[in-house]
Amino acid sequence: MKPRIIIAEDHRAFIQQAADMILQIGQEALAKHGRFSMALSGGSTPQPIYQKLAEPDFANSLDWSNVHIFWSDERAVPPDHPDSNYRMAQEDLLDRVPIPKANIHRMRGEIEPLRAAVDYEEELREFFPLPKNTFDLVLLGMGGDGHTASLFPGSAALEEKEKWVTANLIEKLNSWRITLTYPAINSVTNVLFLVSGGNKAAALKSVLEGNHHGNQFPAGLVKPTAGNLIWLLDQEAASLLSFDE
Ligand code: 6PG
Repeated sequence: MKPRIIIAEDHRAFIQQAADMILQIGQEALAKHGRFSMALSGGSTPQPIYQKLAEPDFANSLDWSNVHIFWSDERAVPPDHPDSNYRMAQEDLLDRVPIPKANIHRMRGEIEPLRAAVDYEEELREFFPLPKNTFDLVLLGMGGDGHTASLFPGSAALEEKEKWVTANLIEKLNSWRITLTYPAINSVTNVLFLVSGGNKAAALKSVLEGNHHGNQFPAGLVKPTAGNLIWLLDQEAASLLSFDE
């Protein structure tokens, strides 16, 4: 399926359009099958979007009792650590909306990463009984090196073809991560990349305009088998893209 590329007018519009799309996908999922499962990405880009989703206009438009929140990746740190993706989402969104605690499916960064990955896989397999489908929506960011979730260039997790979750040692960061794998990400209904900042522009050009090889830019290997792939970009991240006249 051809990716849909949207370039926001400015940063305010980027945040608004992201929140609008998330809300629309959520309402469609709730109407269609009575629940909305979304995996959150970490890093700094999504923070203002989570804050926007917690504002009454958005928060009051979703039936949070049937919203289930997951993560696309997590750092190997406790949930109250400054680097925790869970902590960021908890502060900016989850503590501000009426979502039942049981609907928040945290990756346990505080335990041994391989164990955390196995446990999370079990939780996902239980939540998504059909072998071939996972989330209604997975949010992803992209780093300047083309990594997404915690699928970094040259890391072992890029080769995972079966498991939905794995522990991944990121050599350049000298740290472990827990991450969804391509089998999980490519079986979702909607992938929404949220990419902002000029430091992503070169990698984004390679990913979207095809002049990269294999898993040089891991984000380029996100290709949902049957789902929608949407890229929401700000002007800076999109600044090197060429457009067919
Ligand atoms: C993480 C994220 C990671 C992030 C990119 C972009 O755990 O850090 O999941 O994949 O999305 O690194 O991060 P920024 O949005 O901060 O540029």
